[in-house]
This record gives sequence, structure tokens and C-alpha cells, in this order.
Amino acid sequence: MPADADLLAPPRLADPLGGLLLRPEDLGSPEFRRDHRIRYAYVAGSMYKGVSSVELVVRMGRAGLLGYFGTGGLRPERVDAAIGTIQQALGPDRPYGFNLLASMDQPRREEQTVDLLLARGVRRVEAAAFVQVSPALVRYRVSGLRRGPDGAVRVANRVLAKVSRADVAEAFLRPPPEPVLDAVRAAGGVTAEEAELGLRVRMADDVCAEADSGGHTDQRPLVALLPDMVRQRDRAVGLPGAPVRVGVAGGIGTPEAVAAAFVLGADFVVTGSINQCTVEAGTSAAAKDMLQRAAVHDTAIVPAGDMLEIGARAQVLKRGLFFPARANKLYDIYRHCGSLEEIDQHTAEQIQQRYFRRSFDDIWAETREYYQAADPAEIDRAERDPKRKMALVFKWYFVHSTRLAMSGRPEQRVDYQIACGPAMGALNSLLAGTPRQDWRQRHVDDLAELLMTGAAEVLQRRLREVAGRAGAWR
Ligand SMILES: Cc1cc2nc3c(=O)[nH]c(=O)nc-3n(C[C@H](O)[C@H](O)[C@H](O)COP(=O)(O)O)c2cc1C
Repeated sequence: MPADADLLAPPRLADPLGGLLLRPEDLGSPEFRRDHRIRYAYVAGSMYKGVSSVELVVRMGRAGLLGYFGTGGLRPERVDAAIGTIQQALGPDRPYGFNLLASMDQPRREEQTVDLLLARGVRRVEAAAFVQVSPALVRYRVSGLRRGPDGAVRVANRVLAKVSRADVAEAFLRPPPEPVLDAVRAAGGVTAEEAELGLRVRMADDVCAEADSGGHTDQRPLVALLPDMVRQRDRAVGLPGAPVRVGVAGGIGTPEAVAAAFVLGADFVVTGSINQCTVEAGTSAAAKDMLQRAAVHDTAIVPAGDMLEIGARAQVLKRGLFFPARANKLYDIYRHCGSLEEIDQHTAEQIQQRYFRRSFDDIWAETREYYQAADPAEIDRAERDPKRKMALVFKWYFVHSTRLAMSGRPEQRVDYQIACGPAMGALNSLLAGTPRQDWRQRHVDDLAELLMTGAAEVLQRRLREVAGRAGAWR
């Protein structure tokens, strides 16, 4: 056993790494960088309603980095316009992608997005919220498959699937399910040849394990989730198609976190929260001011407004805001009451006057009007089922609170809903006292550079320490 003094002794070798110098481009999978034509195995993930904006995606693309545009909650015309602008700015060779969100309730929406993406030749999607592979996603993946001169199948459309559970990841590690593929072909969504080749590719090129992130989250720790998914991927060896790369999102806001992800076996990393607090993010200055002051513990878990009924959870900014407490209270009421009329009078008044600043009747009238155009059957359902009606009225608050934050309206600041995870606070702490403390000095590509260059340095330092110690005992 070495004596205590020896345990603390400095490394005795001059350079235990023999002059090895790690660069940011050495981190992660070289195939990931090659296939996406990017400098670093680093991705800026989608953020709904164009928070990951045209400016954000273009800025990343011009820096040779990949960002996904946030299509969630946007009308097809706006997505179409974003595709046009991004394609014009980046041309055919620079990287960019779009979010494809699962829509179990309204599969038509997914189909519409896929129609748009295919018509416009968008070659990369970040598929999220899928619990199983849908016909629209299969159509996107299989469209454009062809046989290369060497006989190998060439993929036209790349899918990065973001999942928070290993059992959901499973569906993306294999080719599309045959019954779904057959149905898509029978409906004329793909040709017979594409369908045949479809059996020889996996559903995704890349799977991202989403740990404790901003926005929707199952709150699994990155250190537990990532090795599990890497192992699951390794078990899928032998299935048809190229091996799937596994990356990670959730909690990444510092060079140390990036370095840890690569040590744990990540092929690439994805950030979200930190990009919302940059010049390019499509949200208000008021929201960015709040985000820039957040510490690691300044987040809270709330019900996810779009999936209130099934109890899905999301992570949001807490500091200085009433939204998290109000959102949780609404969910509690939703669970315990059968209708708006069942809520006790005091609580009902409090909600209408303080939270909503509007009556239930007014909100129902507005909601009705929205569904009249979007999905009239929903109105019938809600008018027959008072609990459903209560859910729709409460959901209005979740949409409203996001709009308040994105527009930066000063009068209801405490009701801002700002999706955000602990990564934000970790970055703020790193940048405290530097010019980039102010979000006006933060740019998405610059953060990517900072995290990846920093991660290479962190790894270099740690490796040197470990190798020095190991060498010292030989
Ligand atoms: C404001 C915000 C909005 C988001 N919206 C979406 C979205 O619409 N679609 C999606 O796939 N992921 C969305 N995400 C998740 C991010 O793409 C990313 O996976 C996640 O933020 C990574 O975790 P982090 O926040 O800890 O960095 C959102 C995240 C934030 C912070």
C-alpha cells in the first residue's frame, strides 16, 4: 500500500500522455460528424414555437454545426416559411434539421409536417415524443431509399430520435415494423422498391437519450440513462442496417458535463436550455433576462400542459415565478374534481381572478372557437364530458403562460412558463463575471465552441492526472 503522502504526490512523469493533444473534433463519433457534415459531435436540439429559431439554426449551420428548428405549436405556413428561409441561407451543403413531433391524438398533424418536409427536401429530422413508430415517421424515413452502385442501401432522410426510455429506444434500433411499412406502401406513401429497401435500414441513424432536461422530461439522471441505452444499442448488433449512434441530452451546460457524457460513451451531445438564453433564441428579452439569473436549483417540475390528462411532466424555470405552483395546483384540482362546477367557490374565484384573469366561460368560448377550426369533434367530446371540458380550460393556461413568456408582456410576468433545466444554472455559474454573463453576448455557435473546446481540455487534464498517477506506481 502506498503511504498517505504518496497518494497525494504530484505526477512524476513530465507528460504521461506522451504529447497527445485532444481537440474538440476528436470527441464523439467521427461517423456522426461525417454523415451530418459537421465540425463537432454537438447538436442544438429543437425548442417549440420557433424558440430554436431560423436565426439559431442558420447561425449554427454557418459555423458548420447542426441545429434543429422548433416546429412544435407552429402552423404549417410558418414551418414552410422557416424551411424556405433556412434553405436559402444555408444552401444544399450546410447542416440543418427540423423537429418532427409525435401527435398521437392528431396523426394528421404529423402527416402534414412530413408532407412539408418531403416536398421541400428537408433531409434531417429530430423525432421526439414518439412512444412507437408511426406511419408518418416511417414514410419520412423510407422515402428516397435507393440502392447504391455497391448494392448498399443509401438513406435520403436522416432521423435522430430523442427518447427518454430504453424500451422506446428499442423501436428505433430496428427496421420499420412490417405491418406499418406495408400500410404506408398500400396507401401510396412509398414505392414498392422503397418499401423493400426499408426492411434493410433502421428507423434511426441516431438515438438521443434524453435525461433530466428542460421541457418534457422523465427526469432520469444522465449517468444512469446513457450507459443503459449504449448497452441496449450494443445488444441490437446483428439487426439489418447500419449501427445506430447514441447521444445524450439533459443537463449539459458546461465543459465538464460534455466531457462526462463522452466518457460515458456518448457518440454526440445535445443541448437545449442553454440555447434559449442566447441572442438567436426566438423568445423575449424578458425571458432571457430571467434565464440568465438562474442557478442550478432554480427549476421546478410541473405537469406538461399538452399531456395534462396522462400526467406527463415538464421542467421549467422557478425563480421569481408563480407559474410552477399554479400549474401544479391546477393539476391537483384536475385529478380530484370531476368538473369545473365541482371546484369549491373560493378556489374557483382564485383561479379565475388571479391565475387566469379571465372567467372559465370566457376561456371556454375562446377554446371552442379554436377547436371549431382545428378539431370540431373535440368540442362534442368536451360538451358531453365535463372533466374533459375542465382539462381543455386548464390547458388554455399552459398555452397562455408560454405566450406570455415568449412575448415578454410585463403585466403577468409571474405567470411566464419557461421550459428550462439545471444546465442553464450550471452555464450561468461558469460565465459569471465574464462578458458572457449577459445573454446579449451569448451566441449558440459560440456556446458550442466553449463547451466542446472546454470539454477537450477537461478530458486532457483528467487523463493526464490519472495517467500520471498510474505511471507513478510503475
Ligand atoms: C424552451 C425549450 C423548448 C423545448 N421544446 C422542444 C420541442 O419542441 N421538441 C423537442 O423535441 N424538444 C424540445 N425541447 C428539448 C430540447 O430539444 C433538448 O432535448 C433539451 O432541452 C436538452 O436538455 P437541457 O435542457 O437539459 O439542455 C425543449 C427544451 C427547451 C428548454
